[in-house]
Amino acid sequence: MSTVGEDTRTAPATGALTAAEVASLREDFPILKVQPHEQRLSYLDNAATTQKPQSVIDAISEYYEKKNANVHRGVHYLSQVATEAYEGARITVKHFINATLPCEVIFTRGTTDAINLVAQSYSRGFLKDGDEVVISHMEHHSNIVPWQIACQQTGAKLRVIPINDNGELDMAAAANIINEKTKFVSLVYVSNALGTVNPVKEITKMAHAVGAPVMLDAAQAAPHMAIDVIDLDCDFLAISAHKMFGPTGFGVLYGRAKYLRDMPPYQGGGDMIRSVTFEETTYNELPYKFEAGTPHIAGAIGLAAAIDYLNNVGMDRIAAYEAELLAYGEAELEKIDGVRLIGKAVDRAGVLSFVMDDAHPHDIGQLLDQEGVAVRAGHHCAQPVMDRYNVPATARASLAFYNDKDDIDALVRAIHKVKEIFG
Ligand code: ALA
Repeated sequence: MSTVGEDTRTAPATGALTAAEVASLREDFPILKVQPHEQRLSYLDNAATTQKPQSVIDAISEYYEKKNANVHRGVHYLSQVATEAYEGARITVKHFINATLPCEVIFTRGTTDAINLVAQSYSRGFLKDGDEVVISHMEHHSNIVPWQIACQQTGAKLRVIPINDNGELDMAAAANIINEKTKFVSLVYVSNALGTVNPVKEITKMAHAVGAPVMLDAAQAAPHMAIDVIDLDCDFLAISAHKMFGPTGFGVLYGRAKYLRDMPPYQGGGDMIRSVTFEETTYNELPYKFEAGTPHIAGAIGLAAAIDYLNNVGMDRIAAYEAELLAYGEAELEKIDGVRLIGKAVDRAGVLSFVMDDAHPHDIGQLLDQEGVAVRAGHHCAQPVMDRYNVPATARASLAFYNDKDDIDALVRAIHKVKEIFG
């Protein structure tokens, strides 16, 4: 029995999620009960998109049932409720990534949109012929093509940090490539194709030493680890809601106010202006200068619900649990003759990319599906990574905290079936 005044709350749990906790968390995801081909679903395609807990689904439904109206525009009750929810989501994101100011949180359609925003706006404002933009060999196409376009428009040159056979950045090469000509560095935090967790703080130090701002593509980091933009010391960072248990079509660009204030608008339209005449338009303050048009209000609300859910589980506990599960998966796959892992960086998160001696990744993907195991097969929008390893594609199993050893065991059993069929 407790005495009056005693704190009877249990201490917050620490360490990796336990198997029992994961089993309980799985109950929050209704889709995990779907049985493809009458098999237990082992959803291992989380790098492509994650599943949504009931609380996220409910928050989105509730918005449409009880709060739907346009934001920032109406004096009526519903518009005020919708605006409060939308701006509340901005504060939730601010805390989640530890941004200094709410206006440093720009809502976008996703990571691709966020990178295009920065590539276009920053380059229009600040890049010129002879400048250099640095990316790495392990970028997703969404962190290559926008910079190629920006370089074509400005005459700047794109430089690429190479990677070693394990799928790690060549840091000695990076130290040469990042030099006084470098005017921007844009780097993936966690590779979607290899799972490599890059030493982004070291790269940021190199870039800042020559005065270049740094953007991090954190789409594949945010579902697996805590994100702290102050600690990372990055200048821009992008995340996608659907990769972190929220809705598709929504994401966030974090940018330091000192850069965002001087950058020209990306798109023109409603909400991003202060006044418009045919002669001249003046622009709204941050963050609205970069949010032209009616936003994806339900997306913001869904992302905030996903963040609440993640905070409740605990990002550090998720990271610790997933590290154990990834190590288990890696060890199990390495036991199978004829399976080769692509991407063996010491520091990895969430991804087991592999090829097999006799089966094409697309055949692997289809046969695994028959066993209830969902993986992605292809180049994962990272064709230069495939070229680097001289493979046309890989099969990729990608994890979330609701995966368990049963999912890995199902993957291993299914790979043995592929071997039986392809010899
Ligand atoms: N970028 C997503 C993936 O890696 C779609 O699958």
